[in-house]
Amino acid sequence: MAEPHSRAIRGRLLTFLRAPNGANDPRSYRFFDDGVVLVKDGRIDAAGPAAELTARIAPGTAIDHHGGALIMPGFIDPHIHFPQTQVIASYGAQLLEWLEKYTFVEEQKFADPAHSARNAEFFLDELARNGTTTAVAYCTAHPVSAEAFFAAAHRRNAGMIAGISVMNRNAPSGLLAPGKTAIADSRDLINRWHGTGRQRYAVTPRFAITSTEEQLSALGALLKDFPGVLMQTHLDENLNEIAAIKRLFPDDPSYTAVYRRFGLLGPRSLLGHCIYLEDSEVALLLDTQSVAVFCPTANLFIGSGLFNYGRLKSAGVRIALATDVGGGTSYSMLRTAAEAYKVMQLQGQNFPALAAFDLMTRGNAAALGLEDEIGTVKPGAFADLVVLDACATPAMAHRMEVASTLEEELFVLMTLGDDRAVRQTYIAGRPAL
Ligand code: GUN
Ligand code: ZN
Repeated sequence: MAEPHSRAIRGRLLTFLRAPNGANDPRSYRFFDDGVVLVKDGRIDAAGPAAELTARIAPGTAIDHHGGALIMPGFIDPHIHFPQTQVIASYGAQLLEWLEKYTFVEEQKFADPAHSARNAEFFLDELARNGTTTAVAYCTAHPVSAEAFFAAAHRRNAGMIAGISVMNRNAPSGLLAPGKTAIADSRDLINRWHGTGRQRYAVTPRFAITSTEEQLSALGALLKDFPGVLMQTHLDENLNEIAAIKRLFPDDPSYTAVYRRFGLLGPRSLLGHCIYLEDSEVALLLDTQSVAVFCPTANLFIGSGLFNYGRLKSAGVRIALATDVGGGTSYSMLRTAAEAYKVMQLQGQNFPALAAFDLMTRGNAAALGLEDEIGTVKPGAFADLVVLDACATPAMAHRMEVASTLEEELFVLMTLGDDRAVRQTYIAGRPAL
């Protein structure tokens, strides 16, 4: 029976069910050569073979035909810095120097609401151009930066997660919140934005170097007050960073133990980088069900080191994959997967295309605890989708002449693809491009 739908999106439809076992696991995904997604009120009403579902499309419904392109859930970027759109591509420094010389300089400009608003629009446009429909973003220390970001995302009905980067030491005074201000500001922003439309809040200590014990403890207490709120921070990214942590927290057995002591670890905690984890730290992440976020382009660009995916996966630690712009060098999750592949190759590990695409969609959604809402085409989920063309450039089209399987097509997309491969992005059922 035909029912009212705001849109039908038709093409080759792919969605992921679980992390694949090996490079070719047909039970880990569903693929319909001629598939359709039916959208109602911004959500997916049904998705499956066109032959079964076209009878449900009422006459006059807008139908977007995507021919040979692949329709899949939109990408999710679980670690990115919205105030670093003019920090990306900053030359010649490793983490601590890079923060001081470039990042903290740019981030101070976000005290200006007009600068924050302009950058929020640019950032969200750029995510959409790259097929990313949800991101977990660091804002600056200024509440106005988060306000601008959430307001812009809310107007687009895009599901974003963000928080102000809280610091009270070891950064320029313009970015340091005195006393309890940052905690009160975070609490206000949670009350205003967490659960407003599709927006969610992440309590955000930048990293343990830039917060005193008092501040970390207050952030842990804040997190306890709001069980649905997420937590994001950085962990074990760079050797000089770790040496500084040992000086600042001499009595804690490890960097991860510092976060644990202040109640900052848990199933909604996202720890960026996790390169230099000791075995006891792996055990803490596992115990607390915290998420290790792999940021390959940043780890290579800032010269930090190689994330050991195989070690954490076999230990059972939850893993997500992210761009970390502007330490990272691309907004594209396709470029990010390509660099993840290379980081793993350097360690003798494999990263099959099915695993990469599953992680960028369903896997990252699961890392955020949002697997029923995004990263899937299950009925009831938001109609956040990306449409990808594996023949988008001459080099891709030429390579695709000899590709015969879905796995090969996906591998071409992740190895050679970028924003040019994104034909359309849908946010809550509406074209974003
Ligand atoms: N550690 C603390 N702040 C940052 C940041 O902005 N980027 C990266 N890559 N690491 C950090
Ligand atoms: Zn980061």
